Amino acid sequence: MTSKKRILFTGGSGKAGKHVVPYLLDRGHRVVNVDLKPLDHPDVDNLTADITDSGQMFNVMSSYANFDELEPGTGVPAFDAVVHFAAVPRILIHPDNETFRVNAIGTYNVIEAAVKLGIRKIVIASSETTYGICFADGRADPKCLPLDEDYDIDPMDSYGLSKVVNEKTARAFALRSGFDIYALRIGNVVEPHEYERDFPTYFANPDMRRRNAFCYIDARDLGQIVDRCLATDGLGFQVFNAGNDTNGMNIPTAELIERFFPGVLVTRAMGENEALFSNRKIREVLGFSEEHDWRKYVGG
Ligand SMILES: NC(=O)c1ccc[n+]([C@@H]2O[C@H](COP(=O)([O-])OP(=O)(O)OC[C@H]3O[C@@H](n4cnc5c(N)ncnc54)[C@H](O)[C@@H]3O)[C@@H](O)[C@H]2O)c1
Repeated sequence: MTSKKRILFTGGSGKAGKHVVPYLLDRGHRVVNVDLKPLDHPDVDNLTADITDSGQMFNVMSSYANFDELEPGTGVPAFDAVVHFAAVPRILIHPDNETFRVNAIGTYNVIEAAVKLGIRKIVIASSETTYGICFADGRADPKCLPLDEDYDIDPMDSYGLSKVVNEKTARAFALRSGFDIYALRIGNVVEPHEYERDFPTYFANPDMRRRNAFCYIDARDLGQIVDRCLATDGLGFQVFNAGNDTNGMNIPTAELIERFFPGVLVTRAMGENEALFSNRKIREVLGFSEEHDWRKYVGG
């Protein structure tokens, strides 16, 4: 059991956050959700604020979580950690420049406020799209497989680029402060109800999942990854792929490579169904242990 922390979480009302926040609450943490809209959960504290406004980020990070914190009369307690998920989550929702602006400036504001207020643990949401396959013009092949964290990421779209910039921002602030800032390259997030609804369609049309390199992360397992990041101190700046152990597909790994990425360099021997989007680092460094294999929820 990790120690109980007071956490400021941005973007907790979104697709991923609405599962990750309850996971953290279940682990005994206190969570203040900072979002443009509140998360409807009895145990979460909500503050409505905009990550693109630096003043608001400094302000929420030096705020009471709720009225109960007025009672001791000892002032505003400090946050132990910031988890930053708020973002425009893909291209083609807003104009490209707006996607880039919200994500790059918003992340700069969140990290800067956290570091300058002395919050020594920051976890940010990066993305599998940094590998450049997802939102490429045409069919882009990876330079090699499996995709792991030392890959030379080079996306061509505004969203992927914003996440690359965010990793650089995180690295700069970690260097200057000596604090821990971990960037999670999150795979395609799957909510519990989506297995039965979507996976049979993916199995019938595997090409639909090529741009995601067939990766997935169960939203609850993502909660565990964030919690493991909160419990693991002293690593400075780190990048972690956040994905499940196997591909989100009912085709063995070797066959997936042969059919969908022919000719791509494979840099090591891989397990029968081992994910092309490698999660080896979170297993070895953070002690992540998958709980929600898709096979529990949908037949192969
Ligand atoms: N969903 C995925 O498959 C996936 C994959 C890789 C990475 N990610 C990343 O994970 C994070 C969470 O993704 P998601 O799918 O839950 O996205 P989402 O869009 O469902 O949730 C994002 C949340 O951020 C909030 N938000 C947006 N702009 C804001 C602003 N200016 N100020 C404050 N809050 C703001 C939104 O209100 C929303 O609740 C994002 O950073 C996203 O880029 C998601």
